[in-house]
Amino acid sequence: MDLSTSYMGLELRNPIIIGSCGFTGSLDGIRRLEDHGAAAVVLKSIFEEQILNEAGALHESSLGHAEAADYITQYTRRHSLDEYLRLIRDSREKTGIPIIASINCISASEWTDYARQIEQAGAHALELNLFVLPADTQQDGEAIEEIYFNIVSQVTAQVVIPVALKISPYFSSLANTAFNLSVRNVAALVLFNRFYSPDIDIKSMKVINGEVTSCPNENAMVLRWIALLSGRVHCDLAATTGIHDGASVLKNLLAGAAAVQIASAIYKQGPEVVTSMLTEIRKWMEESSVTRLRDVIGRLSRKRIDAPQLYERAQFMKYFAGAED
Ligand SMILES: Cc1cc2nc3c(=O)[nH]c(=O)nc-3n(C[C@H](O)[C@H](O)[C@H](O)COP(=O)(O)O)c2cc1C
Repeated sequence: MDLSTSYMGLELRNPIIIGSCGFTGSLDGIRRLEDHGAAAVVLKSIFEEQILNEAGALHESSLGHAEAADYITQYTRRHSLDEYLRLIRDSREKTGIPIIASINCISASEWTDYARQIEQAGAHALELNLFVLPADTQQDGEAIEEIYFNIVSQVTAQVVIPVALKISPYFSSLANTAFNLSVRNVAALVLFNRFYSPDIDIKSMKVINGEVTSCPNENAMVLRWIALLSGRVHCDLAATTGIHDGASVLKNLLAGAAAVQIASAIYKQGPEVVTSMLTEIRKWMEESSVTRLRDVIGRLSRKRIDAPQLYERAQFMKYFAGAED
């Protein structure tokens, strides 16, 4: 039985990648994931904003000296990046699976600078964790898309390793934006990032932290968009958000994902969940007489089924009518 797949030019032993999260922020964590069957990992993102905040806290001691503050910022940036580069080198050396680094930058020059150094440290690929919250009432959709296009074009021009982009669904014309990103040398689009969300406690009437991990029903929107875009964009697709068991991995492959990324399932069930997902996939392959998993990728995508409207239908008209009977 062949569970291998090809994702952004990387040959993976199976389609389960561990998404960027706390488990992929240390060599020990990555080794444990590899031991349980993970095919690749996306390292915990390095966040430029966090580095600048840390530097900002240290500025207090610079007593208002601009030069000292600048030195502290440069030092903190260098130190954090050095640690990240060491994690890349160590995991390349001490594990046998592809290492995909992940960055989230603010300033335009840092996106390319970090990307170049990450490539030199030996990462097999790079994932851009790029999100602009479309909450500015004066900024139109085109201006936001332009930010994405610029960063992607600049980074892909600087490195030869494959570059993936993890996006949110918050675009006014998602299919068109995905297509336009895919023709800018992006090797894969990862659908969709799941963000930290605020919640409201009605007892204390305060804003509180929302649920950190996903639920299986959150995968429905991902599944639809993987199916709608499969074979219609010029790059691979990876599915992420709400994948908690082997059946869900298979659904996303059938819809058209070349691979999946999981994070919450690891937090909820431990790294062992990868092994149980793989067992479930093997059982399904046996029962369905599938010998090569890559043969089923996209078999149920919008492009390849006879009734594409099954993915396009959005209204519940029929069901409401039935409920009234
Ligand atoms: C605790 C935690 C930390 C995460 N950290 C990052 C991160 O640093 N960078 C990133 O791109 N995504 C991060 N994510 C998002 C995951 O990579 C993933 O895209 C998201 O959780 C949806 O997948 P899931 O439903 O399997 O959790 C994090 C998720 C969790 C739960």
